[in-house]
Amino acid sequence: MRTKLVAANWKMHLDLSSAIELTQALLDQIKDLPNPPNVILSPGFPLLSVVSDKIKPYSNFKLAAQNFHESVSGAFTGEVSADMLRSVGVTHVIIGHSERRQLFSEGEDRLTAKLHRALEAGLIPIFCIGESLSDREENKTFDRLSAQLEPGILNLSKEAFEKVIIAYEPVWAIGTGKTATPAQAQEVHAWIRQQFHTQWGATTAENCTILYGGSVNASNASELFSCADIDGGLVGGASLKANEFYQILKALPA
Ligand code: PGA
Repeated sequence: MRTKLVAANWKMHLDLSSAIELTQALLDQIKDLPNPPNVILSPGFPLLSVVSDKIKPYSNFKLAAQNFHESVSGAFTGEVSADMLRSVGVTHVIIGHSERRQLFSEGEDRLTAKLHRALEAGLIPIFCIGESLSDREENKTFDRLSAQLEPGILNLSKEAFEKVIIAYEPVWAIGTGKTATPAQAQEVHAWIRQQFHTQWGATTAENCTILYGGSVNASNASELFSCADIDGGLVGGASLKANEFYQILKALPA
C-alpha cells in the first residue's frame, strides 16, 4: 500500500521558540482528526533535536533533515553526517532539492552518493526532481526528469528503491505562487510512476509514494492530492503557518 503523507520543508526559517510553537500548534490541531495524517517535519539542523522530542509520542509524525554530507564521518568542518542525524531521531532526508542543486551546485554524482549513504545509514530519502521553466517551455521536461532519475534512483536495487520517497517539484513552481495545475502535475507523476514500472514492475511502481511540491497551499491541496498518482505534498512556505498547514493536512485522503 502506498503511504500518503505531507512533508513540511521549513528551509532556513524559524528559531527555537517559533519551531516549538509551530510544532505544538500542529500537534494540538491534529489530535482531533479522526484519521491522523502522516506528517514529516524538516526543521533546520539546530532545531531537529527539540522537534524530535516533541513529536516522539506521535507515531504519525516523522522528522527529516534538509541536507547532510555523503561521507560517513571525517574532517568536514561545518558538515553533518547521516549517523548524527539518526542519533537525534531523524528518519528521513531531503536529497536533490532544487535549491541544493542550483544554489549549492549539487550535481547528480553528489546526489547519487547522498542517496546511497542515506540508505546505508537507514534514513529514508525524499529524492526531489523537477524541471526548470525553460525545460518546460522547450518541451524538455521528461528529458530533464530522466537525467535526474537515471544516475541514482533508476540504478538502485528494487529493495533499496522500495524505501525511497520521490518528490516532483517543478522549479518554476517553488516559492513562486505558481502551482502546476492538477492536470500538469498528474501527467508528470504518471510518467514518473511509469519509469518505475518499467524498471521494477507494477507492484513496486504502485507502492511508491510520489509527492508534489511547488506552491502547495490550503486552496489547491485537495485538488492536487485527489489526483491518482499524487500521494501528498512537499510544502515550503505554507508549512510555516500552523492553520494553513493544518488545512493542507486535512486535504490528504485517508
Ligand atoms: P514552496 O516550496 O511550497 O514554498 O513552493 C516547496 C519546496 O521547496 O519544497
